[in-house]
Amino acid sequence: MSVIDSALVQIRQLHPYSPGKPIEELERELGISNAIKLASNENPLGCSPLAREVLQQASEHIELYPDANAYYLKQRLGEKLRVEVNQITIGNGSNDVLDLVARSFLDASAEAVFSQYAFMVYGMVTQACGATSKIATARDRNSESPYGHDLEAMADLISDKTRVIFIANPNNPTGTWLGSDALLAFAERVPAHIAIVVDEAYFEYVDLEQYPDSLQWLDRFPNLIVTRTFSKIYGLAGLRVGYAVSSPELCDLFNRVRQPFNGNSLGLAAARAALDDDAFVDKSRHSNARGLQSMQHWFDAQGISYIRSAGNFLTVRFGDSSQRIYQDLLQRGIIVRPVANYDMPDFLRISVGTEDQLQQLYQVLGEIL
Ligand SMILES: Cc1ncc(COP(=O)(O)O)c(C=O)c1O
Repeated sequence: MSVIDSALVQIRQLHPYSPGKPIEELERELGISNAIKLASNENPLGCSPLAREVLQQASEHIELYPDANAYYLKQRLGEKLRVEVNQITIGNGSNDVLDLVARSFLDASAEAVFSQYAFMVYGMVTQACGATSKIATARDRNSESPYGHDLEAMADLISDKTRVIFIANPNNPTGTWLGSDALLAFAERVPAHIAIVVDEAYFEYVDLEQYPDSLQWLDRFPNLIVTRTFSKIYGLAGLRVGYAVSSPELCDLFNRVRQPFNGNSLGLAAARAALDDDAFVDKSRHSNARGLQSMQHWFDAQGISYIRSAGNFLTVRFGDSSQRIYQDLLQRGIIVRPVANYDMPDFLRISVGTEDQLQQLYQVLGEIL
């Protein structure tokens, strides 16, 4: 018996998260310097100039541990979101916060409910805790939200063992979203002892009338946990800052399992500054809306279908040719994201790029197709 056999069985059986191909790696392989990455739903406009500005100053004292309580960031977030500081848990990315929730609630006797095609990390953190994933079949292809979460099916999976329900709104990789009435009705059906996580990583991008700001329901549902991130519209994916907003009691739990100093000093400072840059956020939202519309028009014109998206990416059905198209794009210096690991081998997920990047994508895709 080796030491590996002594590791927890659920860890040995875990499939590691497979990130998109790094741009540097592709450039090295192809010997080029102008590859474009439309694979990880990052902000193609970069980050807020205000965030970049404070990084210089914040880097002067990286020999010191960061502020373990993330005081300034939480204070500013509290003002902006109109919640108390003791309701905010900072994570090393919102993935870290999802992990804190899992570790606070899940063990071998517990179940977590989420949707087919839901963000991969829900299954990973559940399995890492030895708990069981109960996966609700997604809405069918002919429904009004193809591939989206089916809240009825999710409610049907709730059992005595359910401790956590993960909902992505909008979801990655489908881009599907849930409206206010549906989500509220669902939350009302969930027993009060079950944690409901509403993952709003793409919240700031969504500009749809029925799309809810779940924070408004925190007073009503003490079991609600809303997670958000600085990795997407704020353009700080490389600095790893995300957060949860919940009741102070839940926040207190998460702070017990949280690693001390899980928010790094550069990330905390940049996130704090980015929050004040409404102009950058607005510009990013508008640029994304234009880009998404342009992509939809282009694929419509080609007769290629896609899943309607509320995020900063479009998941496009290329059918049997998906893998070939992915490889052909790579050879031409464009990285997109296969989603076969989501059991969607017919699709590629393409992040919304700048206008120039999208023109390059259309040209190359036009040639390949
Ligand atoms: C739905 C969803 N939730 C959470 C995350 C985690 O992002 P981060 O850990 O960078 O905050 C992502 C990242 O792609 C996502 O798509």
